[in-house]
Amino acid sequence: MTSSRNIHNIALIGFMASGKSTVGRIVADHLHFSFVDTDALVERRAGKSVASIFSEDGEEAFREHERHVVEELTERRRTVIATGGGLGADPAHLASLKTHALVVCLWATPEVLYERARHLDHRPLLQVPDPLARIRDLLAMRTPFYQRADVLINTAGREPHEVALIALRHFRSVQPRCDHAADPGPQPEEQTEARAHGKPPGP
Ligand code: S3P
Repeated sequence: MTSSRNIHNIALIGFMASGKSTVGRIVADHLHFSFVDTDALVERRAGKSVASIFSEDGEEAFREHERHVVEELTERRRTVIATGGGLGADPAHLASLKTHALVVCLWATPEVLYERARHLDHRPLLQVPDPLARIRDLLAMRTPFYQRADVLINTAGREPHEVALIALRHFRSVQPRCDHAADPGPQPEEQTEARAHGKPPGP
């Protein structure tokens, strides 16, 4: 942790279907914070859906929109931010989020993610013949980055409300200390404790 952190937001990162938006809304309600979803911000910027951006302009165009959104997020206060699954796997984005937010990663195994995502067809990256294999591959590549979150929460077998309460507890434990200039940020035991709540991500 660096001393340049000033945590007044919560950013939820993690793979597609890990529950970021559902959990994020619950956390925002509890804290009376605003809620934003980076995919929605990208869609507003582009004037079209994520699926249309991917199909008409390509993934790189989508990632460029994400870069702008990440910059804009630094202006946010008292906001819970649910991020697209690829955003939190980009080290530069992660570093930017950490300057203003407690970064919480929601974790689940490929099999659990597949079960949650299989009936939904709005995710362009999963529109392949073998979505489970795609999830395994992508998750293996992204795991080292997701593991850099301040807090890791295993969502398997947990209701969104329960996951939200864990995230809230961590946020409350660091926020008062983080409101002043010499903010130490979350301490190493936060991460240790967070990992105790569930299996640490691993490929
Ligand atoms: C993506 C995840 C999606 C969306 C886009 C790309 C990814 O968001 O940003 O389809 O690269 O994992 P969700 O995680 O909200 O599904």
